[in-house]
Amino acid sequence: MKPFACDVLTLFPEMLNAVTQYGITGRAWKNRIFELITWNPRDFSNNSHRTIDDSPYGGGPGMVMMAEPLEEAIMQAKSRQHELGIIHPEVVYLSPQGKKLTHAMVKELSLGSGLIFVCGRYEGVDERFIVRQVDREISIGDYVLSGGEIAAMVLIDAIVRQIPGVLGDSESANQDSFVNGLLDYPHYTRPEIYRGEHVPEVLISGNHAHIQRWRLQQSLGRTWSRRPDLLETKISHGMTVEEQKLLEEYKQLHKTR
Ligand code: ADE
Repeated sequence: MKPFACDVLTLFPEMLNAVTQYGITGRAWKNRIFELITWNPRDFSNNSHRTIDDSPYGGGPGMVMMAEPLEEAIMQAKSRQHELGIIHPEVVYLSPQGKKLTHAMVKELSLGSGLIFVCGRYEGVDERFIVRQVDREISIGDYVLSGGEIAAMVLIDAIVRQIPGVLGDSESANQDSFVNGLLDYPHYTRPEIYRGEHVPEVLISGNHAHIQRWRLQQSLGRTWSRRPDLLETKISHGMTVEEQKLLEEYKQLHKTR
């Protein structure tokens, strides 16, 4: 399999080391499951001061990233992906104005062969660059970060985890919970009593069917109390009679959300 090709436009290329050097994504990068090339718009500035930003037309605070250096950089990224045989690499711009990231979007993006990420800084990017070059604008949540790099890394991490072979058997199991549209159940490890708090009895019973039922009930109950929006979606997709019964029982036991 060819590596999943990531090209990232960023003023701070070293930040991306966080995904290539650590943990599960670090292992996937070393195993050439994905590759990550950075392009610094500063290297494509048209002046000796390497300027890439200017003040906004119409006034107001801060600076705006100029279209030209970004467009020159993206041309290089696109040529590189073309050489890899990726004819229409999708361009993703990370910004709070984008569509909010979901697991479904992550899955869809992971099915392609490569992506180009554009990380903005300052007040944003000249809109003409976005109109000309960007296919999708994505937000990772309703809050403002200091730049798109951390958001791009969130997306790359989530995408890489979906590529077959990245997760070992023991790691992929813990994905099941979001995939079934529910929050994860609580986890416990040794010791059995920690500062007076016991591990739930059922988990040390050795009865696998009871454990599975308890975990499903915890997942349903937590989703009901913490993420009613997710539970609504789950209900609209249909819950089994068993799931309905477990949730009703959880509600009876807990009463308030
Ligand atoms: N850049 C700044 N804030 C962001 C956010 N919430 N999501 C994606 N990119 C961003």
